[in-house]
Amino acid sequence: MTSPTADPESGTDPDPAESDPIDAGSGDTDPDSAESDNRRGRGEYADSPPVRRLADWPAGRLEDLAAEYGTPLYVIDLDRVRENYARFAAAFPDAHVMYAAKAHTGNAVLSALIDFGAPIECAAWGELDRAIDAGADPDELQYTAVNPPDRDLDYAVSLAEEYSGLTITAGATDTLDRLSKRDYGGRLAIRINPDIGTGHHEKVATGADAKFGVPYEQVPEIAEKARESFELVGIHAHVGSGVLNDGLDEHCRAIEKVGEMARQVASAGSRSLEFVDVGGGYGVPYHPDEAPLDLDGVGKRVRDALGDVDARLRLEPGRYIVADAGLVLTEVNTRKEAPETTVIGVDASLGTLVRPAMFDSYHHIRNASAPDRESKAVSVGGPMCTSADVFATDRPVARPERGDVLAIGNAGAYGYELASQFHSQPCPAEVALEGGEARVARRRETLDDVTRVEQ
Ligand SMILES: Cc1ncc(COP(=O)(O)O)c(C=O)c1O
Repeated sequence: MTSPTADPESGTDPDPAESDPIDAGSGDTDPDSAESDNRRGRGEYADSPPVRRLADWPAGRLEDLAAEYGTPLYVIDLDRVRENYARFAAAFPDAHVMYAAKAHTGNAVLSALIDFGAPIECAAWGELDRAIDAGADPDELQYTAVNPPDRDLDYAVSLAEEYSGLTITAGATDTLDRLSKRDYGGRLAIRINPDIGTGHHEKVATGADAKFGVPYEQVPEIAEKARESFELVGIHAHVGSGVLNDGLDEHCRAIEKVGEMARQVASAGSRSLEFVDVGGGYGVPYHPDEAPLDLDGVGKRVRDALGDVDARLRLEPGRYIVADAGLVLTEVNTRKEAPETTVIGVDASLGTLVRPAMFDSYHHIRNASAPDRESKAVSVGGPMCTSADVFATDRPVARPERGDVLAIGNAGAYGYELASQFHSQPCPAEVALEGGEARVARRRETLDDVTRVEQ
């Protein structure tokens, strides 16, 4: 594997045209064995570079894509998605590594990962439905119920009636009650709240937020009771998102508590637990100066933190798998010299990519039309009537001119999924790259799409 501390701007082979398309595999492995989980994830793709920077994407290709498909445009590289999954799975040998569909639920991504052998974790009925549509085996799905609306529970329970391998994760006794009322007695994991949250922003530090999971002290009693009505197969926690090197200590402290609780719950029951699921949360460097996680090291630390548990480790990475596989292309339509800054107006908005407005997230920006032009501090914003519609403030970018295409990096995770039609702007198109070929994965919405549901 490329050293995670190696110069991140070099050593990458970024051209999708150079990537080997994956062999979809012979499918001759035993689907229940540890090796068969993530089965193609253990192979050659595990050695891919640990980070793809915006500078690694060939600028000319990006400009061509913008010219052919229009802007704003999402681009997602499915080869990179598979590489990321493979690298992650290789760092957690013998673990059951699911992809958290919420990060990017597009059919192109789901089908690519499912074909690659990745099991899927879903957090809503729509995600379950789309995962199945993309080819997921319902018996292997895990559904995480957070304050679940009735229709979500109805959907999951009726699915479980037919597919008894489906697992439902509940984080409140009310959810257990509501499952019992639906005569559900199947596979259950209890989501616990370790009271330690981590991540890139307070709005994603779920491990310390009472909304998520059963309060730590109540877990043994609730688990005991749950055993009377359900098949208690796992303990689950997801404590935060976007954890990089400086957040690992806290992340591992939370996992220690998960391990302690798993041991306590397991020793109290007559049947052992099948798994301990420590969720996702593994971050990627959004800033060009940030170092990527040393995943092999992370894998060892997570194992050590969990301690000796007689149950299989499960993980649910979302962001790590798709973030650096995607970007947004947007065209400059305005350049304004204001006394305090140079304003660059683009056709993407917070309706396209809301992370900067919602989480104050940094997304690197590169001028794909003229990457070598002299750099100039500019503020980049979209067409929406709010000061929150800003991608960067006083940021050095190769001097953007009207008509230039700018690339906004690391948009593969929680990008399109959070897109909206604010200001009656149709959602953008998305192009998938695979084996060097580009295809439309989601067509650009039209104004008719925006008004379709009105009566
Ligand atoms: C239950 C659960 N699992 C997995 C994830 C994926 O997290 P990440 O994208 O940080 O890996 C999330 C994110 O919100 C989550 O809530």
